[in-house]
Amino acid sequence: MPDSDSSSLRPTSHTTDPDGSVPFVSQYEKGQRLGVGGFGTVFKGTRISDGQQVAIKIIPKNKEDDYIVVSGYSKPLIKEVGLNLRVKKSPTSPNIVQMLDWFEEAYHHMLILEYPQPCMTLNSFLKFNRRRVDENQARHFMLQAVLAAKHCMDRGVAHNDIRLDNILIKTDTLELKLIDFGCGELIEGCDDEDNQSRGHVVPELYVAHKYALSETVLSLGNLLYRMVEGQSALENNPKFDCNRCSKGPFYPFYEVGEKLGLGGFCNVFKGDWLI
Ligand SMILES: Nc1ncnc2c1ncn2[C@@H]1O[C@H](COP(=O)(O)OP(=O)(O)OP(=O)(O)O)[C@@H](O)[C@H]1O
Ligand SMILES: [Mg+2]
Repeated sequence: MPDSDSSSLRPTSHTTDPDGSVPFVSQYEKGQRLGVGGFGTVFKGTRISDGQQVAIKIIPKNKEDDYIVVSGYSKPLIKEVGLNLRVKKSPTSPNIVQMLDWFEEAYHHMLILEYPQPCMTLNSFLKFNRRRVDENQARHFMLQAVLAAKHCMDRGVAHNDIRLDNILIKTDTLELKLIDFGCGELIEGCDDEDNQSRGHVVPELYVAHKYALSETVLSLGNLLYRMVEGQSALENNPKFDCNRCSKGPFYPFYEVGEKLGLGGFCNVFKGDWLI
C-alpha cells in the first residue's frame, strides 16, 4: 500500500483482488458492535498478527454503489475506500481516523479502521456534558475539526457529512477524529489524480470547489453552534427557517460569534479565537 503509518497502525496488504489474497477471517477477529449508521455497521476487531485493536466497518454491497479511480490501483474502488485512500496520503492528519485496510467480499465491503481508545462520538460526549461544552473546549474541538476538514479538501475530498455522530473524541486526550466518508465526493479539478479519474467517474460524484467549501463551512458552523448552544442551528430551530441557505453558509457563525462576544463569524473563523 503506497503510504506509511505509525508501526502500531501499519496497514496490512489490501485484498481487493481475490486472487491469492489472504481472506478477512484469517487476518481479523470481529468483536462486539461499536455503532450502526445508515450505511454500515461498525464492530470492534483484533488484527490477529499483532493483537492491534481496530474498528471494522461492514457495508452491504448495493448495485448502486459508486466507484472511483485512485492512482496506484488498477481497478475502480468503492467510493468510501477510494476517498479514504486519498485522505490518508502522507502526510496524514491526526484528526482523521485512518483506514488501515479493506476487503471486498461477495456481499460486503469491509473497511478496517483505526480504533482510537478510549473514545466516544462527539454526540455522546456532549450528552455527558449536559449537551454543551465551555468556550475553551469548543475552541479546542473546532480547531481540530477545521484542520480535519481542510485536510480533506486539500486532498480533493468533500466529506459532506461533518456532524456530531461522525466525529470521535478520544476521551483521555480530547483529540478529535473525523470518521465516515460514506457521503463524500470528489472536488472538481483539485489535483493530478483528478485527471486520472476523469472518464471513469460519473459526473455526479464530483462537486465544484465553491459548493464543497460552502457546505463544509456551514457544517463546521453548525458544529460550533451545537457545542456552544446545545442545539442545532439548522434543525428544528425556529430561528432558522428552511431558507437558511439563502442566508449563506456562515450563518451559524454569526450567532455563535455574537454569543461569544466576538462580533461575527470572521472573528470565529479567521481571527485569534481558534488559535
Ligand atoms: N473507527 C471507529 N472507531 C470507533 N467507533 C467507530 C469508528 N467508526 C465508526 N464508529 C462508530 O460507528 C458509528 C457508525 O459509523 P459510520 O458513521 O462510519 O457509519 P455510517 O453507516 O456511514 O453512518 P451514517 O448513518 O452517518 O452514514 C459511528 O457513529 C461511531 O459510533
Ligand atoms: Mg456516520
